Amino acid sequence: MKKLVVVLGAGALLAGWIFMSQETATSHYTVYEQAVNDPGRSDEDRARDESRKPGQILEFYGVEPGMTVVDMVSGGGYYTVMLSNVVGPDGLIYAHNTTGTPEEDMTARAERYEPLGNVTLTQSDMWSLDIADDSVDRVFLFLIWHHVHFQPDDGERMSDYAKAVVAEARRVLKPGGVFGIIEHRAATGSSRADSNDWHRVPEELVIEDLTSQGFELAATSDLLAVDGDPMNCDWHECRERGETVRWVHAYKSPD
Ligand SMILES: C[S@@+](CC[C@H](N)C(=O)[O-])C[C@H]1O[C@@H](n2cnc3c(N)ncnc32)[C@H](O)[C@@H]1O
Repeated sequence: MKKLVVVLGAGALLAGWIFMSQETATSHYTVYEQAVNDPGRSDEDRARDESRKPGQILEFYGVEPGMTVVDMVSGGGYYTVMLSNVVGPDGLIYAHNTTGTPEEDMTARAERYEPLGNVTLTQSDMWSLDIADDSVDRVFLFLIWHHVHFQPDDGERMSDYAKAVVAEARRVLKPGGVFGIIEHRAATGSSRADSNDWHRVPEELVIEDLTSQGFELAATSDLLAVDGDPMNCDWHECRERGETVRWVHAYKSPD
């Protein structure tokens, strides 16, 4: 009975989110289109658009002009550049990098983002962001959770490392802000250890982890679902890039 109530609660939240998202989509669609079509984007980034559907993803997460957004473990900046375009001159993007990022990569990223005018490049551990409390509207962690959700010493329980990363996202988010996570999907029921080997995460485990730390699952999307992925293999070996099922989750921080 308790489980049913929880499921219904999540359904109501989901309905509310979709309604909000569609309203945003109607009034700001051109912002997403403009960001994806920006001639300043690299050919390398553009080549990944068909499988990553960035315009629809940014629309799903309700990113708007003027927002402050953390692109956590931003990598080559695939999303950073489009986010910069969407939030515009009144917004701010933190392009976060882990401490192990080579210096030459940091230099190249600094040069790439400087002309954009609204991107702050940061480097720190994921659990120790150089960002003020309650100051950002969105935190995005895309294709990184598989590095976090399993730590060998913690076995099949949520690791202290994962708890620290989630707590950090919650610290920097404004009340009601959204933590967006996307990851290659592992088959339902897969263990943390197996899915770690496959560079994937099963949906039910991330939901359990995030909700146990005070976030609410506000919405999910099947925008990045594809056919034919068995979801029980190292995707580098059994699938081509862009041909995995990826889950897309939005978690809301408490108001
Ligand atoms: C698939 S990219 C994702 C980058 C970016 N979030 C995006 O969506 O384009 C992989 C990134 O994972 C980072 N990475 C590799 N090992 C990691 C680890 N153990 N913990 C966190 N990040 C790691 C790499 O530095 C690289 O930037």
